[in-house]
Amino acid sequence: MAGNRTFTMIKPDAVRNGHIGAILAKINEAGFRIVAMKFTKLSQEKAGEFYEVHKERPFYGELVDFMSSGPIVAAALEKDNAVEDFRKLIGATNPSEAAEGTIRALYATSIGENAVHGADSDENAEREIAFHFSRYEQF
Ligand code: RTP
Ligand code: MG
Repeated sequence: MAGNRTFTMIKPDAVRNGHIGAILAKINEAGFRIVAMKFTKLSQEKAGEFYEVHKERPFYGELVDFMSSGPIVAAALEKDNAVEDFRKLIGATNPSEAAEGTIRALYATSIGENAVHGADSDENAEREIAFHFSRYEQF
């Protein structure tokens, strides 16, 4: 059975470009409930740990530099079929391939600086929520 929680970050590019409010509105309009949220900044070390799965990829260094380049908004979200529905809402990794109306089509600037993160499985969603939030920060 599909789980009902996912994890997202509004990435430093979208924060810098003033899109926090618009992105949170899209998330709410799509029927997700925010169950934890913080405005924070990842250290290089934390960003590296979060994206460790991509350690061997050529873009890893750039990704870690970018994700630690400014503040982010981290949030845990709840909805039926959360992981899959949220990936649909954000669109493809490369904004030029993202479907019209998706968050990345609207707010991403490039494949690297693509406005939002979305967990890609129930297991990763739970790992990522635990990475950012204690149980007492989740509602
Ligand atoms: P995310 O994990 O951030 O939600 O993105 P995703 O699943 O759509 O894409 P993934 O393959 O997990 O890649 C993670 C992030 O790495 C950056 N990236 N840059 N320059 C490149 O070719 C490249 N490819 C990926 C993006 O920021 C991507 O979201
Ligand atoms: Mg990913």
